[in-house]
Amino acid sequence: MLLHLQRIAVPFEYPVYFTEGVFSPSNADLAAAIAAKEPRRRHRVLPVIDGGVAAAWPSLADDIARYVGARPDLLTLAAEPIVVPGGEAAKNDGAATAALQARLDALGMDRQSFVMIVGGGAVLDMVGYAAATVHRGVRVVRIPTTVLAQADSGVGVKNGVNAFGKKNLLGTFAPPFAVLIDPRFLETLPLRDKVAGMAEAVKVALIRDARLFSWLSEHAPALASGSLAPLAQLVRRSAEIHLHHIASAGDPFELGSARPLDFGHWAAHKLESLTKHRLRHGEAVAIGIAIDTLYAELAGLCSQATAAAVVAALEALGFTLWDDALAMTRACERGERGERLCVLDGLDEFREHLGGELTVTLLEDVGRAREVHAMEERHIVAAIARLRERAGRRGALAAIGATGAAGAATGAAGAVTGAAGAVTGAAGAVTGAAQS
Ligand SMILES: NC(=O)c1ccc[n+]([C@@H]2O[C@H](COP(=O)([O-])OP(=O)(O)OC[C@H]3O[C@@H](n4cnc5c(N)ncnc54)[C@H](O)[C@@H]3O)[C@@H](O)[C@H]2O)c1
Ligand SMILES: [Zn+2]
Repeated sequence: MLLHLQRIAVPFEYPVYFTEGVFSPSNADLAAAIAAKEPRRRHRVLPVIDGGVAAAWPSLADDIARYVGARPDLLTLAAEPIVVPGGEAAKNDGAATAALQARLDALGMDRQSFVMIVGGGAVLDMVGYAAATVHRGVRVVRIPTTVLAQADSGVGVKNGVNAFGKKNLLGTFAPPFAVLIDPRFLETLPLRDKVAGMAEAVKVALIRDARLFSWLSEHAPALASGSLAPLAQLVRRSAEIHLHHIASAGDPFELGSARPLDFGHWAAHKLESLTKHRLRHGEAVAIGIAIDTLYAELAGLCSQATAAAVVAALEALGFTLWDDALAMTRACERGERGERLCVLDGLDEFREHLGGELTVTLLEDVGRAREVHAMEERHIVAAIARLRERAGRRGALAAIGATGAAGAATGAAGAVTGAAGAVTGAAGAVTGAAQS
């Protein structure tokens, strides 16, 4: 007997500022963002800064203190800024997350205090997770400092840390209180990270905005050299598309299995763990996009010209579309002969992460995506073999036999979707190996 159908709708709203010199004394945006809902209160703010940013901007802590000190009626510092290690290390260290949670508690951060995070995507994810779990959610203001974080993760609603050898295993959906994007931070970002961050912009362009893709292709030389003006434009347009998607696609907290913003990510997440995070997230995403695009061509979903344009644009932007981890193999299971590419396990791990039916976004054309619920292993292997050839790594993919892949694949085709049990077992093994 149904007692009652409980329905709750919780509206979320957060401003996203695009502003230059966010801590310069005359810039009112940060104070306005924090005080927007309660302009007559003095708000407690705890800055948490990415170690890479703190090193590149030695005056940052003083700048923040001066900014807050100049507005004593609105703002007060809960403590000196906390500096946390930058990069994926931030998300891999469970002890660091626990230490930060303990510190938030010790400082008496309550649900109306602000954790102000200044950093790249990894630090935003880790500190955001710590803040979201203390008192079930301390307010968070994000100040993203990398191309990726400004163009994608910083404006979104997710956080998370890596645990038990799995990427983003622990995390929450927690919209921020406000986001302030200051393109000046990109001045000190190493070229490698500038390039890596562009992968997410290419991703949204490919699935949502053909005009942005043309613009990216046209400005590829300037973008690849790290030129700041076009990078700021890229960040802005990509952030807008992400924001629009989250607000309008009907599933902001990703309750269903469709995940268009994860285009290219099933292989990317696996490559990150196979390389023990030697590859940056964006670098892995670029390879993932290339694999899925070549796959779409091989599976007859998109034209050769479209696939060629995508691969060429990624290369022109400075991405290397091959990593030897793509050729890593493990022994086959359940009587299959030979070996199997480890990266293929990423597909099953992706399904597991989504829950329910496997749903992968693939391109029909630039700006037009569709979802599929199975991928043929032979085409994935052939797509990877093409990338290997392109990278000048001659020779067949040893274990699978890239040239013979088409023949071998008839038997193997079902494995990705059909042999879920076997693949899951193997995935555990690979993940465990990645951890050690
Ligand atoms: N939550 C989400 O929705 C979401 C979406 C996409 C990606 N992500 C996550 O984001 C992470 C990648 O983020 P990223 O690409 O920003 O890299 P990152 O956070 O790993 O930072 C890269 C490096 O740049 C340094 N750095 C940051 N800003 C700097 C600056 N202005 N000047 C100099 N150095 C600076 C950092 O210390 C670090 O060493 C991954 O963990 C990925 O999973 C999350
Ligand atoms: Zn991503």
